[in-house]
Amino acid sequence: MPGPGRRQHGGFKPQNTGKTLGRLIKYLSCYRLQLITAAIFILISAAANVVGIYFLKPIINNYIVPFIGQKNPDLSGFIKMVMLLCLVYLTGVSGTYIYNRIMLNISTGTLKKLRVDMFTHMQSLPIKFFDTHTHGELMSRFTNDIDTLREMLSHGIPNLFQSSITVTGVFLMMLILSPLLTILVIFMLFLMFLTVRKIGGKSAMYFKKQQEEIGKVNGYIEEMIEGQKVVKVFNHENTVKERFEELNEQLRQASTSAHTFAGILMPIMGNLSYVQYAITAAAGAVMAVNGLIDLGTIGSFLQYTRSFSQPITQISQQMNSILNALAGAERIFQLLDTEPESDNGYVELVYASKDENGNIKESDTPTGIWAWKHPHSDGTVTYTELNGDVRFEDVTFGYEENKTVLKGISLYAKPGQKIAFVGSTGAGKTTITNLINRFYDVPDGKIRYDGININKIKKADLRRSLAMVLQDTHLFTGTVMDNIRYGRLDATDEECIEAAKLANAHSFIKHLPQGYNTIIHADGSNLSQGQKQLLAIARAAVANPPVLILDEATSSIDTRTEALIEKGMDTLMEGRTVFVIAHRLSTVRNANAIMVLENGEIIERGTHDDLIALKGKYYQLYTGMLELS
Ligand SMILES: Nc1ncnc2c1ncn2[C@@H]1O[C@H](COP(=O)(O)OP(=O)(O)O)[C@@H](O)[C@H]1O
Ligand SMILES: [Mg+2]
Repeated sequence: MPGPGRRQHGGFKPQNTGKTLGRLIKYLSCYRLQLITAAIFILISAAANVVGIYFLKPIINNYIVPFIGQKNPDLSGFIKMVMLLCLVYLTGVSGTYIYNRIMLNISTGTLKKLRVDMFTHMQSLPIKFFDTHTHGELMSRFTNDIDTLREMLSHGIPNLFQSSITVTGVFLMMLILSPLLTILVIFMLFLMFLTVRKIGGKSAMYFKKQQEEIGKVNGYIEEMIEGQKVVKVFNHENTVKERFEELNEQLRQASTSAHTFAGILMPIMGNLSYVQYAITAAAGAVMAVNGLIDLGTIGSFLQYTRSFSQPITQISQQMNSILNALAGAERIFQLLDTEPESDNGYVELVYASKDENGNIKESDTPTGIWAWKHPHSDGTVTYTELNGDVRFEDVTFGYEENKTVLKGISLYAKPGQKIAFVGSTGAGKTTITNLINRFYDVPDGKIRYDGININKIKKADLRRSLAMVLQDTHLFTGTVMDNIRYGRLDATDEECIEAAKLANAHSFIKHLPQGYNTIIHADGSNLSQGQKQLLAIARAAVANPPVLILDEATSSIDTRTEALIEKGMDTLMEGRTVFVIAHRLSTVRNANAIMVLENGEIIERGTHDDLIALKGKYYQLYTGMLELS
C-alpha cells in the first residue's frame, strides 16, 4: 500500500459529476465572453481542417487530372487553388493558436481564483477541521487536484470540443462524398474498435496490477527509509533486502505484462488503419473504374478516413482525464463547503477613557485603556473596562461527542492573578486554555470574561485581549525581528528588542549571524527548541495583553536559563491575569492559586503552602513521589 497521504491517480471517480460540473461552470462564468470567443476559434480551427481536405477534390479533378499528358498546362488556376488551400490551413493554425491562448488565460485565472478561495476559506475554518484532516490531504487539494483541473481546462475540454466537431464534420463530408464508402469505413472502424477493446481491456487489467505493485514497492521503500535506524539497530538489513527483492520482482512481472499488451496495441492500431485505408482505396478504385466516383472524390475521401479515427481516440482519452479532474474539483469544492468557524459574537473591544467619576467612554484614539462595548437588544450600549477577569462555571467539554475531557471545571482568575495548572499528560490542561480563546466552543454562560459570556465576544477581539505561548511553538519564515513583531504588527524595533530582553532571548539573538535580521526558515529548524520558546515568549511580551496564557512555555528551556528569564517573566506577568501550565513545579510556586488536574477534574486547589499542607497529589508531585509528565 502507498504511504498515508499519498494518492494514486486515476483511482478516484467523481461522485456527483453534474453538480461539480455546474459549480465549475459558475467559476468560469466571469469568462463568458472569452469562452465564446474561444469556442468560435475552436470551430474555425476544426472547420479549416475539414474544409482543407475537401480542397483535394477540385484540385485533383479540375487541375491535376486534366493536366495529365498536357505539354504546357496553364498553372495559374492551380496555383490559385493551392494558395487558397494554404490560406485555409493558415486560418486553422491561427485559430488553434488563439483559442489555446484564450483557454490558457481562462484556466490560469480560474485556478488562481480557486486557490485564493480555498486559502481564504481555510483561514476561516475552525481548529476542529485541522484536527480531522491531515496536512498531506489538504496540500494535495492545492497541488494534485489543481493540476488535474489545469490539464482539463487548458487541454481536455477544448480538445474534446474540437474533436467532436471534427468527427461530426468529417463524417458529414464523407457522407456527402460517398455514402457507400462511408458505410464501409464505419464497418471497418467497428471491427477495429472491437479488437482494441479486447486487447485494451486485458491491458487495463495489467496496468491496474502494475499500479498496485508500484504502490507496494514505494510504500516499502518509504517505510524502510523512515525506519532506517531501527533496521540498523536490530540488524535487519538482509531480511529487508530479501523482502524488497520479492516485491520488486512482482512489479517487474506486472510491468512486463502491462506493456506487452500496451506495446502491441499501438502498432496493431496503426497497421489496421493502413489495412482499412488500403481496402477503402481499393473499393474506391473499383467504383471509379465503373464510373461511380471520380478520382478527386477518392483523394479527399481517403484523406478524411485518416482524420476520422484520430479524434475518436482523442475523445476517449480526454474523457478519462476529465473524469479525473472532476474528481479533483469535487474535493476542492468539498473544502470550500466546509462550515467556517461560526462567530455570533457582537461584543467588541474598543479604546476607552475614564472621566473623574469613573464612567467609561469610547475613544477613537489609543488611550491605554480598553473596554468591552456591549450593545443590548433595547438599543442601549454599555461599556465594561477590560480587566482580565476570567471565570469558569461548571464547564464540561469533550472534543468528540460522548467522550468528555473536562468534567465540571469551575474556577476564577481575578485581574492580575496568576493561576497555575499542574497534572499529568492528558489531564486536560491545554484543553482549558483552548476554551478560553474559543478554539473550541462551550455552551452559553459557562465561561465569563470581565463578566461577559465569552460566546458573545467577537472572536477576533477576544483573542486580541489574550496572548498565548503555545505548547508547540511555531515560527514563520522571516527574520527574528519579524517573528517577534508577529505579536503586534505595529510594534517598533525598539519594542521588539525590549521584549526579547524581557524573555532573555536577546543574548542568543545577538550571537546569531545577522542578529535580529537572521532569517528563520522551515519553522525554525536552525534554532534549538528552547531558543524557539524564548522567541515565542518575546512575541507574547510584545503583544502586551491583559491576559497571558503560557502552556509549558519553558518546558524545553534548561533550568539555568529558566532561572535567568524568571525575572523577565515576573515583569511580563505583572498586572496581568496569567494562566500558566508548567512542567516544573518551581515555576508555579508563587501562583495565587494552583489547580491540580487529574482526568479532566480539578482534584486539589489552593496556594503552594495550602497544597503542601494538604499532603495530597500536589505534595506527592512536589516532593518527587510522583513523576510529572
Ligand atoms: N484535538 C483533539 N481532538 C481530540 N482529542 C483531543 C484533542 N486534543 C486533546 N485531546 C484529548 O484530550 C485530553 C486532554 O488533552 P490535553 O488538554 O492536551 O492534555 P494536557 O493536560 O497534556 O495538556 C487527552 O486525552 C487528549 O487525548
Ligand atoms: Mg498540554
